Amino acid sequence: YSQPIVGGNWKCNPASHSTLPTLVSNFEGVADYLSDCDVYVCPSNLHVSLVKDSFVPGISVAPQNCNFGGCGAYTGEMAVDQIKDLGLDTVLIGHSERRGEFGLPTPKESNELMATKLKYILDQGLKCVFCIGEPLPVREKGIEAVVEECTKQLEDIVPILKELEDKSRVVIAYEPVWAIGTGVTASPSQAQETHSALRSWIATAVDAKTAEGIRIQYGGSANAGNAKELSEMDDIDGFLVGGASLKPEIVDIVKALM
Ligand code: 13P
Repeated sequence: YSQPIVGGNWKCNPASHSTLPTLVSNFEGVADYLSDCDVYVCPSNLHVSLVKDSFVPGISVAPQNCNFGGCGAYTGEMAVDQIKDLGLDTVLIGHSERRGEFGLPTPKESNELMATKLKYILDQGLKCVFCIGEPLPVREKGIEAVVEECTKQLEDIVPILKELEDKSRVVIAYEPVWAIGTGVTASPSQAQETHSALRSWIATAVDAKTAEGIRIQYGGSANAGNAKELSEMDDIDGFLVGGASLKPEIVDIVKALM
């Protein structure tokens, strides 16, 4: 897990596409760091095509979701095949806002469905950011419950990870649900404890090569103010940034990893 990785998840923003050039330009300052840090941006589905060629070269544009079965009768969905056809190489899946942790959407996206999506994405030769995380009631029960919940979200992809030759193609984004959009960040030691436990679990459930090669990003109210401290933790390989990725401070978040 050598090269850090930072993602900007714009979620369902901005309201007007006229704002896109400003949001894209916030990432210009990242150009200097791209040889030492992977950077991807997840614009809303409607905006992907509008911005995909506007970023400085080296920044990946990654849709926020995809379906599990390619093109066909899937109204309202996006197929990996279409994503690939646009020249995009990464997809984000399993965000808690898709898994239904915020009550949206219905039905919930299950762990099993996530595994099917991941397999499809990898079979098509693309990379994947795979989001996991626990809600507040689980965090309140303590670290063991947290690890149990998060590893439950990973269990179904164990066979897929075992087979994966290039471990850098899958990035796990650990996003505690209680930290998303709340301004409450996991403390560096809290995040490290979880990342490290997840990596150990991967070493046992999958294998040592995967545990070493897979990157684990932290997400949840990451910003320019807390990125440095978090980035100093051994098992934090980067960030998945929501709110702050809509602001110029995204550059400082990347810089924190240098
Ligand atoms: P915030 O950084 O706004 O908390 O969002 C995190 C997130 O959900 C990124 O996917």
